[in-house]
Amino acid sequence: MKQTQQQALQIAIDGPAGAGKSTIAKLVAKQLNLFYVDTGAMYRAIAYKALKNKILLEDELNVSQIAKTTEVVLDHSDERTVWCDGEDVTHAIRSPEISRAVSTVAAYVGVRDRLVELQRREAERGGVVMDGRDIGTHVLPEASLKIFLTATLQERANRRWLELVKAGKNVLFEEVAQDMQKRDRQDIERKVSPLEPAQDAVILDTTGVSVEEMVAKIVALTQEDGR
Ligand code: DC
Repeated sequence: MKQTQQQALQIAIDGPAGAGKSTIAKLVAKQLNLFYVDTGAMYRAIAYKALKNKILLEDELNVSQIAKTTEVVLDHSDERTVWCDGEDVTHAIRSPEISRAVSTVAAYVGVRDRLVELQRREAERGGVVMDGRDIGTHVLPEASLKIFLTATLQERANRRWLELVKAGKNVLFEEVAQDMQKRDRQDIERKVSPLEPAQDAVILDTTGVSVEEMVAKIVALTQEDGR
């Protein structure tokens, strides 16, 4: 693992939707006493604000303007509240409507530039586990450890569907799987910072692997020297 004496531990966790990034990243952060930064929540907050303000998602100029003027704050307590201009949007940003809208706004360079600036600022506060799509390739290119999590579409969609059902949402599995596939395609094909593993990322498949096992594997990787 790359780490100098002066550099705080930075762990980048990227991968497609539903690969288990946030669940695993949160636990790794807790175990290693690091901040956890959910960058997807920031993109979701911008999509939320654009929809709330009735801005067309295709209107790149206005959506980028929204990103520049919106204050997105991630609470680092166990509550993990996401604030968007002082409004608690923690639950609202997880709706299927926002999931469908978010990849469009995340493709805009104006939105990305602003959020990457906020994300790097978070990393300056100390050791961090940051999850997203471009953390290893763009946000923290010097991260101590880069992980790229994957899983089959069937498993990823099933996890997301169960989450939504548990939250009381009446959604069809097929719909969740289709939305997820579409979102992944948009994230992979976009011009700016597409979803892809960094050249020096460790690729881990979470299909059929328990969360505990994955967390233990990543924590063990942080203790390896000379990678
Ligand atoms: O991780 P998530 O599903 O909450 O992310 C929501 C969307 O935000 C995802 O479709 C792609 C985008 N995203 C991104 O482009 N870059 C990141 N670093 C994080 C998320």
